[in-house]
Amino acid sequence: MNLFPENINSILITGGSGFIGTNLISRLLRETTLKIYNLDKINYASNLKVFDEHIDSNKYHFLNVDLFNIEDTKNAIRFSNPDLVFHLAAESHVDKSISKPKDFLDSNIIGTFNLLQELRTHWELMSINRQNSFRLIHVSTDEVFGSIKEGFFFSETTSYDPRSPYSATKAASDHLVKAWSNTYGFPAIITNSCNNFGPWQYPEKLIPVIINNALNSKSIPLYGNGQNVRDWIFVEDHVDALIQVMLKGRLGDSYCIGSRQLKTNEEIVNIVCDYLDLYKKSNAPHIRFKKFVKDRAGHDLRYAIDNNKIINELKWSPKYDFYEAIDFTVRWYLDNQNFLSISD
Ligand SMILES: NC(=O)c1ccc[n+]([C@@H]2O[C@H](COP(=O)([O-])OP(=O)(O)OC[C@H]3O[C@@H](n4cnc5c(N)ncnc54)[C@H](O)[C@@H]3O)[C@@H](O)[C@H]2O)c1
Repeated sequence: MNLFPENINSILITGGSGFIGTNLISRLLRETTLKIYNLDKINYASNLKVFDEHIDSNKYHFLNVDLFNIEDTKNAIRFSNPDLVFHLAAESHVDKSISKPKDFLDSNIIGTFNLLQELRTHWELMSINRQNSFRLIHVSTDEVFGSIKEGFFFSETTSYDPRSPYSATKAASDHLVKAWSNTYGFPAIITNSCNNFGPWQYPEKLIPVIINNALNSKSIPLYGNGQNVRDWIFVEDHVDALIQVMLKGRLGDSYCIGSRQLKTNEEIVNIVCDYLDLYKKSNAPHIRFKKFVKDRAGHDLRYAIDNNKIINELKWSPKYDFYEAIDFTVRWYLDNQNFLSISD
């Protein structure tokens, strides 16, 4: 049982304790026999103990490392000796980037720079065979493209126009990866995904906030008039896209990952509340907790992804029905309410 070719023995995942990383590692543990190294500094959004049952299995290894520290990063790469790398580690919450931007520069820009420098040395010292199959997937966001007008879509050729400290630091990290690919021939591919939802998302992001607040009879904040549009993808579909990019993506290229499920924030609140009503009838209607609040500074109006390149070139497409995936996600949070309470 292996998703990857036989010559691949070990995979390094940075940010593996975060939302998407947790789902990616879970999939790799289920469907590969590879050695999996999770490099994570562990911040407030990290999921602890999820993989504890695997820790002595010789298959899963945890490296408590901050990419901002170049010596620790170098040692982690030497120790894990990876054949493939998924780079997810980043500070990821836009609101926090507005109040504490420096943390985002340190992790997202300097952290990516340190990783690229140390991985390049690692790659240059490999045998030619290993060099040929080595690659880094740099996991980025559609937020680097800024806001797009009704009727238009971001694609791989869209100019960058980051508008928050978060998206500016992600854009900078994308540029570093492109530069390392062009200048040093370092084998890397960038992915720019839309908004993810699903299990293990820290309760500061929209969908877990809706569930957490509604269950606790607290107001559900909706920025501005609630009409900001986002493209929403179930995290399992994103994870699958990342694996397909790793397996079949073109080196030096980038791939936009989206599911064409465009919804306003207000629609998301309404849909999630409808599912909560179904499972928690005694507290219905949960929509009564919806509350419009002052808009966030620099709030982009609309994100939408043209996913034709990844569909046509890599034969990937989202498998999950949006409403079934939301239903599944709501039930997951109801079954894991102790996870929701960590942010209270
Ligand atoms: N969640 C989304 O909707 C979404 C969409 C598109 C792209 N992305 C990108 O995907 C990646 C993962 O997102 P997520 O939602 O899982 O984020 P997350 O905040 O849930 O997890 C990020 C993880 O990275 C770790 N980390 C942060 N800085 C680090 C550093 N300097 N060294 C080591 N570890 C560090 C954190 O401890 C955390 O465990 C990010 O790069 C993000 O920009 C996320």
